[in-house]
Amino acid sequence: MERPAWAPRSIDISVPSVSRMYDFYLGGSHNFEVDREAARKAMEFMPGLPKIMQANRAFMRRAVRFAVEEGITQFLDVGSGIPTFGNVHEVARQAHSGARVVYVDHDPVAVAHSKAVLEGNDHADVVAADLRKPQDILASPQIERLIDLNRPVALLLVAILHFVEDTDDPYGAVAELRGALAPGSLLVLTHASYEGIPLPQERSEGAVDVYKDIRNPLIMRSRDEIARFFEGYDMVEPGLVPMPKWRPDTAPEDEDPYSFSGFAGVGRSA
Ligand SMILES: C[S@@+](CC[C@H](N)C(=O)[O-])C[C@H]1O[C@@H](n2cnc3c(N)ncnc32)[C@H](O)[C@@H]1O
Repeated sequence: MERPAWAPRSIDISVPSVSRMYDFYLGGSHNFEVDREAARKAMEFMPGLPKIMQANRAFMRRAVRFAVEEGITQFLDVGSGIPTFGNVHEVARQAHSGARVVYVDHDPVAVAHSKAVLEGNDHADVVAADLRKPQDILASPQIERLIDLNRPVALLLVAILHFVEDTDDPYGAVAELRGALAPGSLLVLTHASYEGIPLPQERSEGAVDVYKDIRNPLIMRSRDEIARFFEGYDMVEPGLVPMPKWRPDTAPEDEDPYSFSGFAGVGRSA
C-alpha cells in the first residue's frame, strides 16, 4: 500500500483507526481503504453515522462561539482528531481574533495533519498526548506557551470519552484536567449513548461491535453516567441534551433523526 506524505512512518496503515474512520464519515480525505471498510461495515448497522458526526461538529462550533460570548478565549481540545472543515481554531479566531487553541490527540495522523495545518500559526498548536495521562497534557510546552491556567479555559472533550474504558478511569482523568482549570472555565462534552438512536438496540450494537473488532471499543454510556463527567460544575442551559437541542441555530425538528443520538452539554466551574 502506498504511504501518502501525511501518514507518519510510525503508523500501521493496515489497521483501521478511529480518527481516520471519523474523517471518512465527515467526507475527509485522510483515510485508507481499511478505515473506509470498517466505517462502511459500521454504517451497514447504523446508516445515519455521518449524520451523528455532522451534528457533533455543529454542536462543537456552537459551543465554541458560546464560550467566546462568555469571554473565554483559551481552548484546550482533547481528542481533536484530523483537522477538517470548521476547526476549533478557525471558529474561535473568527469570533475573537486573540483566541488561542491547544489541540491534543494520541493518533499520529491527527497530530501530523494538525501540525501541517497549524504551521506558522502562533495562536494554536498540537500536543501528541493521551487523555488517560492528563499530566502529559498539562505539563506540555504548548500549554505553557499558549494557555494561561490562571484564567478560564474551555476544555473540549468532544466525541472522545466514549473511547475510554472504565478500567482506564475516564472520570479520574477528567477530574484531574478540571482540577487544573481556573474558576469560570467551561467543560464542553459530547458522548455516544444507546439513548436517542432511532434503531432497535441490536442494530446499534452491530455498529459498536465493529469498533470492538478493531480494538477501539466504543463505550456507550447512559445519560446519568455521562452527567457524572460534570461533577462539581453547573450545567449551562439547556443542560445535557441531544446534540441538535443544545442552543440550536436552526429548528431542531429539521434535523435528521440520527442526530439526536447521544448527548451534548456544557458545564461551568464555580
Ligand atoms: C471521533 S474523533 C472526534 C474529533 C473531534 N473532537 C470532533 O468531535 O470532531 C475522536 C478522537 O479522539 C482521539 N482519542 C481517542 N482516545 C484518545 C485518548 N485516550 N487520548 C487522546 N486522544 C484520543 C482519537 O484519536 C480521535 O482523533
